[in-house]
Amino acid sequence: MKNLFLIGFMGAGKTSVSAGLGRMLGREVVEMDERIAAQEGMSIPELFAQKGEPYFRACETALLKSFAQGAPRIVSCGGGVPLREENVAAMRESGTVVLLTAAPEVILERVRDSDERPLLQGHKDVPYIAALMEQRRPKYEAAADITVDTSQLNIEEVCRQVLRQVSKRDKEP
Ligand code: S3P
Repeated sequence: MKNLFLIGFMGAGKTSVSAGLGRMLGREVVEMDERIAAQEGMSIPELFAQKGEPYFRACETALLKSFAQGAPRIVSCGGGVPLREENVAAMRESGTVVLLTAAPEVILERVRDSDERPLLQGHKDVPYIAALMEQRRPKYEAAADITVDTSQLNIEEVCRQVLRQVSKRDKEP
């Protein structure tokens, strides 16, 4: 198995599912936001405020490209990663792309108490989330090798579905 890249909207479950897959497969898990925050010595909201979103997006692309080297990992991508063509190309070259989805109402419940996402500050409501999700949907779907809807599943069930679909796909000629 190559790298596994988990993509999807904020609150889709990428972080929790990546941690579960890392435990099941005994692989290193990289949480992109966490890695970038550590590299830059500031939180993601501080990075957006002090250096701007384009700088953050360039950090994401550089980090993604680095995953072409080394042992296969589980990568929990920031929600904006699939929006850039070169990011999608980098993921496809070195791994399998897993899209996690959830209904806007479920997303709202999951992100409600967090202040870590600058794009949702002041917009924690279903219409905003649904509109941004719809805007991003074509890019998410185009990037994905497999998709799992997490709305009705617990983390373990999502992990098992991901592994089932990945191994089925790996066996295809
Ligand atoms: C973003 C998602 C966030 C983080 C940043 C931007 C996005 O990551 O990278 O706030 O554009 O969707 P999570 O999806 O892990 O919350």
